[in-house]
Amino acid sequence: YQQGNIYEAIGGAEAVDRLVEAFYSRVGEHPDLIPIFPDDLTETARKQKQFLTQFFGGPPLYIQEHGHPMLRARHMPFPITPTRRDAWLECMAGALDEAEIEEPYKSSIYERLTMTANHMMNTEE
Ligand code: HEM
Repeated sequence: YQQGNIYEAIGGAEAVDRLVEAFYSRVGEHPDLIPIFPDDLTETARKQKQFLTQFFGGPPLYIQEHGHPMLRARHMPFPITPTRRDAWLECMAGALDEAEIEEPYKSSIYERLTMTANHMMNTEE
């Protein structure tokens, strides 16, 4: 497989739904993340499904509704420390397991998201 068809390989929209639901139920309970996320994560999850769909090589749903992601800029209002980066990745690792995303896709996705998460850090502790 190649980066471009991870979306199809993992099972398309259903797999992305499972992953994002599992991810935000963890985010909503993580002490390091609760302070910066909204109480109601419905809209956040909807946008993340759109984003990850295109990130995995599926249809460009995020760009169609919101324009260029400019993710680092969109995260600037939130203080993202190394601790919060680690918390985000911990939630994602758990979600990849819970959603039963299989190897080699699981490791490949986690690796790419680790790079993106590093890029999102914008402040010290
Ligand atoms: C939005 C935190 C990493 C993708 C958000 C929001 C917060 C946040 C607080 C706003 C939620 C809202 O108001 O709805 C974090 C933290 C990260 C992180 C602490 C740790 C490094 C990432 C990564 C990605 C990502 C790695 C890419 C996969 C998004 C997207 C949105 C978002 C797509 C929605 C943007 C929009 O409003 O259109 N994030 N994020 N985030 N994040 Fe992150």
